[in-house]
Amino acid sequence: MTDQKKIQNLDWDSFGFAVNPSRSLYIEETKEGEEWPEGELRPYGNISISPAAGVLNYGQGVFEGIKAFRSKKGRIVFFRLEENAKRFYSSAERICIPPVPVDKFVAAVKKIVLDNEDFVPPTGRGALYVRPLLLGTGPILGVAPTSSYTFLIFVSPVGPYFKGGIKPLNLRVTKNFHRAAPKGIGNVKAIGNYSASLYPQRLAKKAGFNEVIYLNAGNEELVEEVGSANVFALTGNVLKTARLAGSILPGITRNSVIHIAREKLGLEVQETDLTLKEVLAADEVFCTGTAVVVCPIGRISTDDSDHVINNDKMGKVTQELRTILTGIQNEELEDTFGWVNPLE
Ligand SMILES: Cc1ncc(COP(=O)(O)O)c(C=O)c1O
Repeated sequence: MTDQKKIQNLDWDSFGFAVNPSRSLYIEETKEGEEWPEGELRPYGNISISPAAGVLNYGQGVFEGIKAFRSKKGRIVFFRLEENAKRFYSSAERICIPPVPVDKFVAAVKKIVLDNEDFVPPTGRGALYVRPLLLGTGPILGVAPTSSYTFLIFVSPVGPYFKGGIKPLNLRVTKNFHRAAPKGIGNVKAIGNYSASLYPQRLAKKAGFNEVIYLNAGNEELVEEVGSANVFALTGNVLKTARLAGSILPGITRNSVIHIAREKLGLEVQETDLTLKEVLAADEVFCTGTAVVVCPIGRISTDDSDHVINNDKMGKVTQELRTILTGIQNEELEDTFGWVNPLE
């Protein structure tokens, strides 16, 4: 951290994974066919938007989710920030938004985090969640890409996703809904994917589950992912996750776990067709994402059966993967992959 700003005196341990106000937001606007200009910081608060905006009417919007950590070395770091920048770029292209160049994205994220550095929680007590948005804000009536766009970033200090420690998740497999279709937009972070998941999530929560496991829309024997996390199943020495066949989000945590499992734990990792049958029979099942990190799945229910995985406990390999990943993020462990970028 620079000398200027002392860490805010906030009740960090009361924060869950929720929006907590910070100082500023980053904003810039462009028109179709023009370059993205230099953005500016504004006090955190509401923005005004046309009622005819493409994003409000046709969901022309994409987003990212990033965490800035205060590491054990006392500095603020990002984890694989360029990967978020690249995904933001391909998400934008897929729904006809002028993409933000990777370098510009990285610089913008660093700028807003620097302005809000005192809102990055103390080491091990949470993170500053960074939410970049790219929105079609020009007015449009017929269904078409709109004429002007806004790149916006807000930040929010967050606590751990699971307050009171990690508890294995209790998930429901749904055959009533699909999250995404092959050749659709499930492989990018388009906002529409998430509105589609709200109703299945609500039903699952009402029935006492934490979240939903989605199956492949073309073959319901195959597991795709959880609403906002990728799924892994370990059987013996083999760790499997669904291959990226177009409808699954290419999670950055997913990719990191694949590297750690292969290179640090010596597991055989397969990106493959992940059958529901093998997930239900696996030794350990877990999900991965920026928000949940690596989280064990302890129970899975289908329409006609309930399954307990690893006695509803976090498995040894799941724990190891989580420890190594968070160790690298907090700079407690050596970053042999070159994944950590400091805020400078
Ligand atoms: C649908 C979906 N799958 C998986 C993930 C995990 O991705 P990451 O590890 O990049 O956070 C996310 C979160 O971004 C998501 O929204």
